[in-house]
Amino acid sequence: MTEIGPSLMCSDLGALREDIKILHEGNVDFFHFDIMDGHFVPNYTMGTDMIKSVRHDTNLPFDAHLMIEYPERYIDTFVECGCDMISIHEEATPHLHRTLQHMNSTGVRTGLALNPSTSLNSLEYVGDIVDYVVIMTVNPGFAGQTFIPSTLNKIENLKHFINSNNLQIKIQVDGNISYDIIPEVIRKGADMLVCGTSCLFKQPNGLKQSTADLRHFTD
Ligand code: DX5
Ligand code: ZN
Repeated sequence: MTEIGPSLMCSDLGALREDIKILHEGNVDFFHFDIMDGHFVPNYTMGTDMIKSVRHDTNLPFDAHLMIEYPERYIDTFVECGCDMISIHEEATPHLHRTLQHMNSTGVRTGLALNPSTSLNSLEYVGDIVDYVVIMTVNPGFAGQTFIPSTLNKIENLKHFINSNNLQIKIQVDGNISYDIIPEVIRKGADMLVCGTSCLFKQPNGLKQSTADLRHFTD
């Protein structure tokens, strides 16, 4: 089964608690928090206080996607506020291996996020300490962008790399994941879908209905 992770930056932030309840009851698999620092990406979104304030609203895994420079400085903070999964960008740290190693030592599920133009090469060296890879299918920073087609081959190549090296890495795809593209990314090997405005939030029939529709579509 393909996992659904709502991108909560796309929710009605003034009604975040209610949205989480609807999504939890609609059987999503995890919650995706987009964390931005205004440096690594030109935008700001959510932070640790927001994560803490809703941590007890659901027992589903919290997934923090850190679009921040020097993520190594903040791993412990995100673990302490209740994140079960954390992904860092390869482009954001000069010490990728060390940072992933540290993430592993905390017990968090360790994710490596790759911008659309970043190759899969580093996985040869860090594949053994990564639990999931986030293939960015748009440039990180904003919801509502257009899917970048060259990332489809990348998902396929990554799946091939995982299988041929007998690794247990899951593939998460993030950015403009719409109904048009979902069957295709699943075919290429995606295990986890980050679902934002393209298939879940701000849909005409409301969040409850769009969650039910999406669950039905991916099951
Ligand atoms: C982009 C974020 C995504 C995004 C998904 O930087 O990581 O999670 O908000 O939303 P849509 O579906 O609008 O691309
Ligand atoms: Zn994200």
